[in-house]
Amino acid sequence: MKPVNIGILGLGTVGGGTVNVLQRNADEITRRAGRGIQVTMASVRSMDKPRICDTSSITLTTDPFEIVNQPDIDVVVELIGGDTLALELVLQAIANGKHVVTANKALIAVHGNEIFSAAQKMGVTVAFEAAVAGGIPIIKAVREGLAGNRVQWLAGIINGTSNFILTEMRDKGRSFDDVLAEAQQLGYAEADPTFDVEGIDAAHKLTILASIAFGIPLQFDKAYTEGMRSLTTQDVSDAADLGFRIKHLGIARRTEKGVELRVHPTLIPEKRLLANVDGVMNAILVNGDAVGPTLYYGAGAGADPTASAVVADLVDVVRALTTDPENRVPHLAFQADALDDTAILPIEEVSSAWFLRIKALDQPNVLAGVTKILGDNGISIEAIVQKVPHHHGASVPIVILTHEVVEKAMNLALQAIGNMPEIEDDITRIRVEYLDPDQ
Ligand code: NDP
Ligand code: HSE
Repeated sequence: MKPVNIGILGLGTVGGGTVNVLQRNADEITRRAGRGIQVTMASVRSMDKPRICDTSSITLTTDPFEIVNQPDIDVVVELIGGDTLALELVLQAIANGKHVVTANKALIAVHGNEIFSAAQKMGVTVAFEAAVAGGIPIIKAVREGLAGNRVQWLAGIINGTSNFILTEMRDKGRSFDDVLAEAQQLGYAEADPTFDVEGIDAAHKLTILASIAFGIPLQFDKAYTEGMRSLTTQDVSDAADLGFRIKHLGIARRTEKGVELRVHPTLIPEKRLLANVDGVMNAILVNGDAVGPTLYYGAGAGADPTASAVVADLVDVVRALTTDPENRVPHLAFQADALDDTAILPIEEVSSAWFLRIKALDQPNVLAGVTKILGDNGISIEAIVQKVPHHHGASVPIVILTHEVVEKAMNLALQAIGNMPEIEDDITRIRVEYLDPDQ
């Protein structure tokens, strides 16, 4: 059978990796797909830049629209990134009746509802496995493998760059900026690395996961996002003293009040597998009512791991070319007309346990004052340690672990504690999650 012609938009880390994997594993891929998959065209911004792949059999262009408007191209692979030019190109490819594969989480999280609706009308597929957790086939696992479950919650390390930074800082004492520069050089980071360290990239991915897990539309604008830049080695060592590790997690949970959608640094018990996922590796824990907890682990970024997911999507698309569009797996796992409108909870309504570090003057009744304010706001203390001051007259760090409480109560309590004259105003607060499969 005639090979399927692919046009790739962008030949950087992921585009180059995709060409390499398609060329290296061509025979196996053809045996799986039932047809050859050949890259005939690719677009780049600069013709002079060295490439990580062999482009001798590929027609290169600096005009990506030439590819999406090229009648001979069957599938367009969007690997440029961003959500302006990429959106225009993807919508144009769909309008031209082409299937699309993308690794672009920003594009799907922000414009996915519009893109899938356009694709549905044209009877084409938009596949996006590589958009979440690099090489881990998490979209396929949640969308298809767990289709029999009511997913109650999921939690994951879904940004390789920030996990790499946290691990190197903790294990080797390296500086934030130094490790970030290495992540950029290794091709892990986004074009704008603040997306990685401020949690925006993780929130894009979490938005996508929550939609396919719960059957809700993509709502990136409602995700709560907190970065990991403020974390200190003191936080890491205080957490370790209490038996926890700090990870930058994305958490999506169904509750009776609505859906939680949040990305933030989180203390998790050190015995949890997720606490031991280090470096650029990602892992997602998904709790389904029938299967219980399931864990998916693998490389979250980089050329070949991400290409693995892009090529898997290409094989899926090629296999389904002759399938009636109505019988394909729905983009967001649930049928498009069966998505529900459960509200995303504002962060003030979310409940979690807390790690607090409060610096107080070493005077009578200060600790009593702090615990009274917590109690008055319905906050129960699980553990409390008052540390020895560094020197006579210095403030003393008080480390507190609380039971679960709704966030607005914690905000009120910390405001009142911050107003105590004996308390310094830089109170550290980090959420704690036990990731208990029974909840
Ligand atoms: P790169 O920056 O390495 O590559 C981007 C490519 O797009 C380059 O070839 C670049 O051309 C081209 N390009 C960029 N801007 C334009 C433009 N305005 N017009 C035309 N071409 C343009 O990015 P990545 O490969 O790292 O990422 C691509 C996508 O994959 C992003 O959406 C990213 O979020 C996603 N992703 C990345 C992962 C990773 O590990 N890197 C993992 C999972 C997803 P030129 O080379 O000539 O500059
Ligand atoms: N910048 C992203 C990360 C790439 O570090 O996880 C993979 O999506």
